[in-house]
Amino acid sequence: MKLLALESSCDETSAAVIEDGYIVSNIISSQIELHAQYGGVVPELATREHLRNVPIVVREALNKASIKPSDLDCVAATRGPGLPGALMTGLRAGQSMARALKIPFMGIHHHEAHLYSAWINENKISLDDFKPSIGLIVSGGHTLLVLVEEPLRHRVLGGTLDDAAGECFDKTAKLLGLKYPGGPLMDKLAQRGNPQTYFFPRPMLHDKSYDFSFSGLKTAVRYFLEENPKLIEEDQFLYDICASVQAAIVEVLVGKVIQAAKNLKVSCITMAGGVSANSQLRAALSKACKVRNFQLKVATGPLCADNAGMIGALAWLKFSQGLSSDSLDEDPKPHWDLPENFANINKRAF
Ligand code: KG4
Ligand code: ZN
Repeated sequence: MKLLALESSCDETSAAVIEDGYIVSNIISSQIELHAQYGGVVPELATREHLRNVPIVVREALNKASIKPSDLDCVAATRGPGLPGALMTGLRAGQSMARALKIPFMGIHHHEAHLYSAWINENKISLDDFKPSIGLIVSGGHTLLVLVEEPLRHRVLGGTLDDAAGECFDKTAKLLGLKYPGGPLMDKLAQRGNPQTYFFPRPMLHDKSYDFSFSGLKTAVRYFLEENPKLIEEDQFLYDICASVQAAIVEVLVGKVIQAAKNLKVSCITMAGGVSANSQLRAALSKACKVRNFQLKVATGPLCADNAGMIGALAWLKFSQGLSSDSLDEDPKPHWDLPENFANINKRAF
């Protein structure tokens, strides 16, 4: 089965070809430089860039996979959540291709694709060695803890009540005068700093829920900078504060995912989304899993961030399990909770 996938939910335009579960091509055109000058993603500009880039990435993905449109068996695209105009470009392009080629189409939930991207190994998605797991999805827009009891059967345990982990990195970085998106830069600068120099709050770490809240942490950094205006001029201060903020975010994420696994008696943890690229988060989660003998699966390389490869990989799983395609006139869903598909479990198990 040859599948073309499109992703355009935020500031990456991407197209991928999946053949029998393998990501054969995964072309990603990033708009980061464009939006960096405004300090964040400008939705109208993102839509225009997607419109320009969708045909380019599709052509490149097909060429790299050495196939023609007429070789395709099905098409998939991100349906939500995301920026309305941005989603519209990829979704409508995918639906139009499916209509013209008279092949099935499937709209995909962006976070569900992040969730299962941790099961992609050497560009091949497989749930053959599936184990019940707790999935941590950490991106610029969302922070979610999900229980995956069976393949493609999952339930959200909790999520952020305000800022997402990536948003906390980006907003704190902005306070420190760093360029958007600040997450990767903070990761880099933190490597030269001491995480114990400053103590910032670990919001909701010991709360009796699986929810997160990161806006207070960002506010604590703002107050700290207002009280210590001179410090920001020193390089070592920048390294130390990046390391200290990062340590707070990492401790909360790792603490909560491990607690969830213990409570729900699950011994496999997965992590994906842009923030899963963070070196300290990967190291700390890996250490915490090793100590408890938990299996850890983390998305790798470009599959951590937004890309059509993960959209196509999930669509391939769904098509190959016989899940039905969508009608070709479904609208985007900019606000779309992760669909849940199994029985109630106790969300207050701490
Ligand atoms: O999944 P993603 O590419 O897009 C969304 O769906 O939001 O995630 C982007 C987020 C941004 O907030 C970015 O700063 C963050 O991921 N990020 C990182 C790192 N790399 C990307 N945050 C911390 N450390 C990193 N190395
Ligand atoms: Zn994402």
